[in-house]
Amino acid sequence: MKPVRLEVTRRNLLRNLRVNREDVQVAFASYKTLLEVLREDLNLTGTKHGCELGECGACTILIDGEPLLSCLTLAVECEGRAIETVDGLVKGTELHPLQEAFADLGGLQCGYCTPGLLMSAKALLDREPQPDRERIKEALSGNLCRCTGYQQIFESVEEAARRMRQASVNDNLGEGPPGNRRGGGARP
Ligand code: FES
Ligand code: FES
Repeated sequence: MKPVRLEVTRRNLLRNLRVNREDVQVAFASYKTLLEVLREDLNLTGTKHGCELGECGACTILIDGEPLLSCLTLAVECEGRAIETVDGLVKGTELHPLQEAFADLGGLQCGYCTPGLLMSAKALLDREPQPDRERIKEALSGNLCRCTGYQQIFESVEEAARRMRQASVNDNLGEGPPGNRRGGGARP
């Protein structure tokens, strides 16, 4: 993560946040939402700014593995909790299997809703390696996409789940090049 501005004023609070596996100290006004702190103070602009009313899901991030709406979450309440954003899905140069599958199967178009969809899907697959279509629909039901059908999105999540299971099997067998290991987006 890039160094952040620490403008500690009488109106700002200085807090330690853990974002995408890194500890970061950041100063922000107490009324700011997590969405605002991520985008404006930490320069993590992958999380999108949509309705700010809790209706679209574009701002979905994970806190302690749970998908939450960052537009409705005060940043000050997040100290000491593990925050994950779409910016942290890539490991080095390796896309997350969900990102690969969305790209391969046409699950993304304008991309505005995609970060939130990816994070909701990640929360699901982290818990359930083999969700059925109904579970995927349920998990993504809070994420609105206005420009594509949901069919390719659901198929992308199913494909990512399949690739992740295969990568896990390969890991256990000690097979495959590093790029095909768990989290590396093994292709069929
Ligand atoms: S921006 Fe948070 S739900 Fe729409
Ligand atoms: S691709 Fe989701 S709103 Fe456009």
